[in-house]
Amino acid sequence: MNADAAGITGTGRAPGPVLIPGSFDPIHLGHIDVVDQALELFGEVVVGVLYNPEKQSGMFTPDERADLVAASLPGRPGVSVRTFSGLAVQAAADAGAAFIVKGVRNAEDFLIEHQMALTNHSVTGIRTVLVPCAADRGFISSRYIREIASRGERISHLVAEPVAAALAARFSGSS
Ligand code: PNS
Repeated sequence: MNADAAGITGTGRAPGPVLIPGSFDPIHLGHIDVVDQALELFGEVVVGVLYNPEKQSGMFTPDERADLVAASLPGRPGVSVRTFSGLAVQAAADAGAAFIVKGVRNAEDFLIEHQMALTNHSVTGIRTVLVPCAADRGFISSRYIREIASRGERISHLVAEPVAAALAARFSGSS
């Protein structure tokens, strides 16, 4: 299929937004790099905070995560944030997304994302674009941020300021 038949415009950009799905509990500098790469490639990005309504888990609620995503991505008119329950393919359809975009930090991420990409394509035909995380951010993970912040150590070099403030408030007992 050529680019025109695929609906890709002369600018090389996808028609409509792309979806970046994730837990974002919380969003960190690695995620922000992936959003910026997707913005550069596709021009319009929906960041989807995915959650399972049957499993109340995580540090922040889905709405808190979405608020922190928005607060961590100022000055990017092509970016919007939504929460979604259910499957990534349903979120992509709800968002009118042309593609799913995911960041890949390492070989382990690649194996997981490769399987998810092929599974999601088999379900609805949606394609996933994998982008490499920035070399200096590929070690960052939300799980370790939660663990380190909960023990009072510094995480401000790993997250945007609103997330550092939210974590500090959470663990000082004022939120
Ligand atoms: O930030 P995470 O935890 O790596 O995000 C993983 C997420 C939420 C994107 C992934 O688990 C996902 O897509 N979950 C939604 C459920 C789903 O679509 N499952 C089928 C995957 S093939």
